[in-house]
Amino acid sequence: MLIDTYGRVATDLRVSLTDRCNLRCTYCMPEEGLQWLAKPDLLTDDEIVRLIDIAVSSLGIEEVRFTGGEPLLRPGLVGIVERVATLEPRPRMSLTTNGIGLKRTAAALKAAGLDRVNVSLDTLRPDVFKALTRRDRHKDVLDGLEAARAADLTPVKVNTVLMPGLNEDEAPDLLAWAVKHEYELRFIEQMPLDAQHGWKREGMVTAEDILASLRTRFELTPEGAGDRGSAPAERWLVDGGPHRVGVIASVTRPFCAACDRTRLTADGQIRTCLFAREETDLRGALRSGAPDEEIAEIWTKAMWGKKAGSGLDDPTFLQPDRPMSAIGG
Ligand code: 5AD
Ligand code: SF4
Repeated sequence: MLIDTYGRVATDLRVSLTDRCNLRCTYCMPEEGLQWLAKPDLLTDDEIVRLIDIAVSSLGIEEVRFTGGEPLLRPGLVGIVERVATLEPRPRMSLTTNGIGLKRTAAALKAAGLDRVNVSLDTLRPDVFKALTRRDRHKDVLDGLEAARAADLTPVKVNTVLMPGLNEDEAPDLLAWAVKHEYELRFIEQMPLDAQHGWKREGMVTAEDILASLRTRFELTPEGAGDRGSAPAERWLVDGGPHRVGVIASVTRPFCAACDRTRLTADGQIRTCLFAREETDLRGALRSGAPDEEIAEIWTKAMWGKKAGSGLDDPTFLQPDRPMSAIGG
């Protein structure tokens, strides 16, 4: 089991498959992109599948989420999903993607064994999309979303980050659209994980702002009497249900006490938290021929050292060296 000194047990593994991306969301990357990881430093498909195998067979991982950067840019993605689907016990599998290219791959991913997708979409307006992501690909994302629903990668969840002065007024429009298309919308508070270190608490759109904005058009009732378990999203029924909307208030209402996550970067480092400043290398052990038991032990020890929380509210908080795109969402 991956247990820490606070008694939390990690059952959810996030695997970043690449640090590259074909968008340049302002809250994530600078216009010119970043210095990408070198190919020899990336885990191979075989190495990734082996680590996931160890995680599910010896460490109690039940759910695997593939992230990036943009995971659809990883050439071996469908093959990795296919192989993970044969592991015992078979983990649930989902993919967090910007949706570009999903139109082409959704059916193959479903056939390979993927259960669900989370697609990031921040706006319904093509011009705002272009300003926010610095790329003119709005339609590709909408097409990807439809393909995901058609391929039954459901429930299709949509992740939205609201940015002041750009899309902060769009919450009710986005919710009306999501309800109509049967997507489950979740707003994520902007976190200090951008490569440019431009995040400011003063400027951010908070969960409270988002809920107030939604309530101008919808009646929201809390689901599950405020108990969100380890799920980061607090959820509300929209106009009495059955549709729901979620808010992930990582900054203003952190959920670290219930965290059930462990993370693997594309270059084979274990991270115990998005905001961790330390990493534990598994790639070195893998490549020096360590047996499964030894790798499992390194992973277990890393998780034992997981910190109580993100430290965001601490005056000495320092952003991690890696940006979100190199950690995985
Ligand atoms: N704060 C909040 N969410 C972010 N994402 C990327 N960067 C940030 C940030 N700084 C979101 C993406 C995607 C998910 C992986 O995380 O929009 O939906
Ligand atoms: Fe790419 Fe996601 Fe970062 Fe946007 S937030 S630039 S889609 S990795």
